[in-house]
Amino acid sequence: MGEGIGDYTKNIVDLRRHMWMAGVEVELRRLIWQIAVVGKYISANIHEANRKLAGFKNIYGEDQLSLDRSSDEILKNQLQFSGFVREYASEEQETIIKIGTGSEKYIVTADPLDGSSLVDTNLAIGTIIGIHKESVFDTGKKTMAAALYITYGPLMTIVYSAGKGTHEFVLNREGEYVLAQENISLQTKGSIFSPGGLRREWLPEHRKFIEALEKDGYKLRYSGGFVPDINQVLIKKGGIFTYPALTKAPRGKLRLLFELQPMAFIIEQAGGQATDGRTDILSLKVEILDQCSPVYIGSTTEVQMAHQFLAK
Ligand code: F6P
Repeated sequence: MGEGIGDYTKNIVDLRRHMWMAGVEVELRRLIWQIAVVGKYISANIHEANRKLAGFKNIYGEDQLSLDRSSDEILKNQLQFSGFVREYASEEQETIIKIGTGSEKYIVTADPLDGSSLVDTNLAIGTIIGIHKESVFDTGKKTMAAALYITYGPLMTIVYSAGKGTHEFVLNREGEYVLAQENISLQTKGSIFSPGGLRREWLPEHRKFIEALEKDGYKLRYSGGFVPDINQVLIKKGGIFTYPALTKAPRGKLRLLFELQPMAFIIEQAGGQATDGRTDILSLKVEILDQCSPVYIGSTTEVQMAHQFLAK
């Protein structure tokens, strides 16, 4: 999986070329490129698993790993020999795993297949990656060098930020990730909202916030997959996703390290905001690997509005 030169006789900008032109540091861009390639393997694995839905049987009759577990294996095995990763932390693993020789530059966090329970419904799902320079047990602000997510939907796309804007690429038929949008910029106010959690478990101040959005004519857009739901806010250039504190789960459902920090990094780089209702997601310190946090993420107007409601 070397960098190669790609086919630059065509007038396209692909992911590698974009990162090079954007001046992303060489090891970081090679790592991001490798993860983008691993995304193709994960996609192939999803398709292979889904052959069952189409009536194909596993000819060996053996137990198969769940899709999230097998995606995790694919990612871990590929990153192990990347030369750039010293530690791997995944939603599918109980502890941080040391890989490589220990002297590599980066630590990778992964939610290898977020929303995997949606696979049989044929809704989009995704992979979420955080790339850290230092221990993950700190604030994202201090440790994160880059973040990306991959969507597996009607199209396969990759959205990355290495701290120089947020950019989207679409996988074409030739297997190239072609630049679709550079420097995506959220409007300060959008028109969609994506609210997680059961309404009956929302806290009163959160309910009032959602009611205010409804009154203002915001359209409901919630698929149950964090990646496509965030992607929708980003690609439609505004709006808000929230998974709040619930009466039964005061810290919400989504994981700070694996899900929220990478998305906060990407959305902030697109001019949006991500908070737990009071504090920026990237200023929260990770204390345990599976720590959860409420989240309000998207355009600045809606996130600020959430702050005002939660402060009441
Ligand atoms: O964290 C897993 C996840 O499936 C996210 O992708 C999604 O945003 C959320 O959970 C959906 O939760 P719920 O089923 O409570 O709406």
